[in-house]
Amino acid sequence: MVTGGAGFIGSNFILNFLKQSDERVINLDKLTYAGNMDNLSSLQDDERHVFVRGDIADRRVIKRLLESHAPRAIIHFAAETHVDRSIYEPEPFLDTNVGGTLSLLTEATAYWNSLEGEQKERFCFIHVSTDEVFGSLGKEDEPFTEDSKYVPNSPYSASKAASDHMVRAYNKTYGLPTLVTHCSNNYGPYQFPEKLIPLVISRALGGEAIPLYGDGQQERNWIYVDDHCQAICKLLESGKQGEVYNIGAERSRSNKEVVQTVCSLLDDIVPKESSYSSLITHVEDRPGHDLRYDIDSSKIDKHIGWQSSVSFDEGMRKTVMWYIENELWLNRVLSGEHAQWVKQQYGE
Ligand code: NAD
Ligand code: TYD
Repeated sequence: MVTGGAGFIGSNFILNFLKQSDERVINLDKLTYAGNMDNLSSLQDDERHVFVRGDIADRRVIKRLLESHAPRAIIHFAAETHVDRSIYEPEPFLDTNVGGTLSLLTEATAYWNSLEGEQKERFCFIHVSTDEVFGSLGKEDEPFTEDSKYVPNSPYSASKAASDHMVRAYNKTYGLPTLVTHCSNNYGPYQFPEKLIPLVISRALGGEAIPLYGDGQQERNWIYVDDHCQAICKLLESGKQGEVYNIGAERSRSNKEVVQTVCSLLDDIVPKESSYSSLITHVEDRPGHDLRYDIDSSKIDKHIGWQSSVSFDEGMRKTVMWYIENELWLNRVLSGEHAQWVKQQYGE
């Protein structure tokens, strides 16, 4: 069972997983503004994908799904995820990321307690978290390890940190077999164009100003989404219960470098009279903006045998190409057509 499987990483995970397996995937998603069934249109007639629209804070729905489908694992992606939104309206972040995770943990524990033998032994709750819970690094600091201190700075990262602590508590107190991952910034197909990379691509293609917060010197460690999904698949098979794993790519890069890379790729693939970089506009900085995230993934490499395999240059080229080739997907998201579809489909 996957939560948040209509979002960016969740949908990539389901698409990847079903390329490697014939197991059924139950996908519980509330379809907030960030959930998009277009991401899963290739699975429309595939019986291995069972979509259920519902809220992870709704314990009755979770209980019903666990009892009727008896999953061998829960992979928990569902969350409110955008830092800027969390600054302007923190409440949904607490409701979903903390309250929703708590509901899920409570029902997962009751379900796990009802299992026996190998089914019980095998069960695992994978909580997909972020490196942002560790706060901000200085330019010269060593990358985050699994033992880094929790110092969240935004309402988003604070809510993810709280959910991580709840997962830990359910493992320690009730014995629920859990596993927590801290992944760095993902990019790739199906990412909602509020996040930096798809936002830059879509604005550049539309000839609109590209907003770079502050001086653009903040750094993130960007991982291609397929690499993250592959790490989760490996952890599903051989992750050790109760453990925490960091997941990331080779090194961090400044926002300025990332935005310049997108512009250069666009100059190469869909050239215009002047370079797309002329659209880059420095705008007011994000309040409490974390200077740098970087992550040490040596534990998952050593214990599980996973390393990122898509280089930044390769991943960025694939990503830019994907958004160019899937303009319809982008336009449906940007025009609100997708939100309209949810309204028609579910009457709200
Ligand atoms: P996303 O915002 O693209 O998708 C979130 C999905 O969760 C959407 O489909 C949404 O409809 C669903 N959802 C939201 N609230 C829900 C609720 N109450 N009940 C059921 N479904 C709900 O997010 P993403 O970028 O795919 O991130 C997925 C997970 O990975 C999150 O937990 C996030 O914290 C974590 N993560 C993301 C990144 C990243 O760079 N995007 C990096 C590290 C970790
Ligand atoms: P984002 O994709 O929102 O991810 P996160 O804040 O979770 O790391 O932002 C990535 C970086 O890009 C972050 O340092 C903020 C910056 N940024 C901009 O400079 N301009 C933008 O328009 C956005 C959305 C982000």
